[in-house]
Order: sequence, then structure tokens, then C-alpha cells
Amino acid sequence: MSQKINGVKGMNDLLPGEIEVWQFVESTARTLFGRFGYGEVRTPMVEDTALFVRSVGEETDIVGKEMYTFEDKGGRSLSLRPEGTAPAARAYIEHSVSNQEPVSRWFYMGPMFRYERMKTGRYRQFSQIGAEAYGAKEPAQDAELMDVVVQFLEALGLKDVTLNINSLGDDNCRPAYHAKLVEYLNAHREELCADCQQRLERNPLRVLDCKNEKCQAVAAAGPNVLEFLCEPCRAHFTDLQRKLGVLGIRYVVNHRLVRGLDYYTRTVFEFIASHPALGTASTVGGGGRYDKMMKGLGGPDVPAVGYAMGLDRLVLLLKEGGKTFTQRPDLFIAVADEGSQDEGLALASRLRREGLKVDFDTRGGSLKSQMKRADKSGARFTLVLGEQERTSGQAKLKPMAGGEPVPVALDNVAATVRAQPEAAAPVPAA
Ligand code: HAM
Repeated sequence: MSQKINGVKGMNDLLPGEIEVWQFVESTARTLFGRFGYGEVRTPMVEDTALFVRSVGEETDIVGKEMYTFEDKGGRSLSLRPEGTAPAARAYIEHSVSNQEPVSRWFYMGPMFRYERMKTGRYRQFSQIGAEAYGAKEPAQDAELMDVVVQFLEALGLKDVTLNINSLGDDNCRPAYHAKLVEYLNAHREELCADCQQRLERNPLRVLDCKNEKCQAVAAAGPNVLEFLCEPCRAHFTDLQRKLGVLGIRYVVNHRLVRGLDYYTRTVFEFIASHPALGTASTVGGGGRYDKMMKGLGGPDVPAVGYAMGLDRLVLLLKEGGKTFTQRPDLFIAVADEGSQDEGLALASRLRREGLKVDFDTRGGSLKSQMKRADKSGARFTLVLGEQERTSGQAKLKPMAGGEPVPVALDNVAATVRAQPEAAAPVPAA
């Protein structure tokens, strides 16, 4: 016997039965982005490795340890995208979008790749729903973005998610914080992991998001970035908080929030869920302002702010909620004899064209086995088609949740089904 080939570790299949939750999240996001004026952008899954090195940062875990990087046949170093912000910025620059409009709002959804240690909610291929707003440096833009997420979570029915915000300052004020942080971390050097001892030399901010517990304890007691903000950064952060108040958005200020990517200036934020289903992967989304990235990538001096939500984590939360997302069939057509099989097939086809969701057993088989399948399908009604129904043109709609059968003319099935009041969904047989 040939050996079975399994999927790649950390990369999941999504099958019917589960995909409906994903589709619900995606369509909810599309609706909301539409309301807020965000247009969809799709970039390739593979980019020049240098794009991520120069934006996300060489010292980050994402670029330093987690990228799927390979050489193509032409000797170019390419990487599977670990995130969507840099690719979107690359496209924005490449298509000279800033020359066409002063403010652009984009969203994207799709798979990202990071070679991470896997656990619940953390995968090597995962999906993000992200949005980026280019051209507005004002705190109102940061607040508007957070509002999209808040309304998105509301529409999904997800509660108990806390918005954490912080400001990392800018080129003007961050050096003073940086110096203080280095001084502090040097004093605690021996307590840091080997990686962080190196980070301390090259990119000390990254020590603050090390996953090692000892490093986290050192970081927790370190200097507070907010005490180092220059006046414009402080005013930006204060105004952001005022605007969140105007929008009725609740938040907590968390001065330890630094995020694991190098490109942020000023605002950073994360949405953190308190649900055991996520274990330690409780951050369902995060983002921030990256006013310097465009220029750093050789583009125009355009400010930007964005975020990305982890679709896999949102789905885990929704599945815990116990709601059903599969759409049950309106009707199951069963045939009483072999002679009715063709007409059953044709009737199903016609009713689907008329907009009904119809299930039909293409294998035929005994009426008993078809009725079992009708039960399992969760259909609202079953219609049995036999010689008598075919000759009379009259049949019955049997409500699967129980109740009296409804007489129906075979040429008026769709309208009759639609006219029936929705009963509680029958529980599909196990
Ligand atoms: P990030 O924090 O690296 O930010 O990822 C955003 C979200 O993606 C996380 O909060 C998490 O929900 C999800 N996520 C990340 N890694 C994994 C994983 N291995 N498995 C499952 N879910 C994961 C960014 O990627 C930035 N590009 C966000 C951004 C947009 N900043 C500005 N604009």
C-alpha cells in the first residue's frame, strides 16, 4: 500500500462544516469595510525578502526566526509574506497611489506564514483580516480604525475583548526612552535570555516582546515609554484618547505594549480577548501607526496607520459561542421509486434555479435511506416524489421539525416553501 501523505505541520485544511464560520467572519468584515470606505487590495503571497527585512525589521522574531525564505530559480531571495502591511505599502508605492488621492483606505484578507512554535491559536499558515489607512496623520484616523474593529467585533457578537493602547513616540522622543531602556536592561543583563542579551545590543525594544518569562518580568519593571513622549506625541496620544471617548470606545492604556514589529511610531494597539479557548494566543488583533515606513521603503513621505485581526483566533472564539453557521437546506427531495429518479433530479434543478437550497440523493436507494439522509441534512421540508405525485402534479411538504404536511402543486413548490413560517431548526440526527 502506498504511504499516506499528510498536510504540512501548522497548516490547516478547512472543510465544509467549518468553512461557514470563516465565510461569516469574512462577509461581516467586507460589509463593515464597505461602510467605512475601505477598498480591497490583493497582493501576492510571495515578496522580495528585503521588503520585510527593511520594514518589519531584521531583529524581530518574525524576520529573524520565522520567515519562510527561499531562493527562486533566478537566484532571488523571496519570502512567503509573514504579514500584510509591508506588501500593501509596497503596492501603494509601486502604483504611485499617493499621486492619485491624498487619503487611501485599503483592506485585505488572506493567509500569512510564520514558522512559529505551534499551539492553540498559533499556526504556521494563518489568516489575517487587515486594514491600512494612508495619508492621514491625525489621531482621528487612528480612532476611526479602532472603531472599525469595535464594530466588527460587535457584528460578530464577540464580547470580552479589551482594547489596549500605547504610544511609542517618534524619532524625536524615542532616543531618550531608548537610552533609559538600555541603561535599565544592562543593569539586568544577567536575567535576560541569550537572545535578549544580543537584542540589547542591536534592538533593545525587542526585549520587551520576548516570550521568555524571565525577560517579561524584567521588561515589566522597566521605564515607562509614556513618560518620555515629546509634546507633539503626547498631544497626539491625548487627542486619540479624547476621540475614543467621543466614539464611546472603551480602552486601557498599557505602557508595556510595544508590538513585535519595528515599523511603529506613536500609536500602537491590541485587542485582547479573555477566553480560555485561546490559551496564551489571546491577542485577536493589533496594529498601529507607521508614519516612517513609506519613506524607508523608498516611497513618498506618507503617514499611515493600520491593524490586522487573526481570523483563526476569531473563528476559535465564535466556535466556542455554539452558534451554527451552516445554512440548512430548504427542501429535501426523496423519490419513492426508481421511475421518479429523473423527475426528482429535474425538480431539484428547477427549484435551485428558483433560489431554493435543495438536497437530493443522487444515489437513489430505498425511501427509508433517503429519509434518513433528509433527517441528517437538517432540511426544513421533505417532499416525496412517486408515481402518484407525478401523475397528479400534487405533493406534500413534510415539515421535518414536526407538524402537519402542507399540500403543494409541483409547479408551485418554491413559492409555497417560502410562504411557510420558519419553525425551529430540526436537530440533525447524529
Ligand atoms: P501582528 O500582531 O503580527 O501584526 O498580527 C496581527 C494578528 O494576527 C495577531 O494579533 C494575531 O491575532 C494574528 N496572528 C499573528 N500570528 C499568528 C499565528 N502564528 N497564528 C495565528 N494568528 C496569528 C501584524 O501582522 C501587522 N501587520 C498589523 C498591522 C497592520 N500593523 C499596521 N497595520
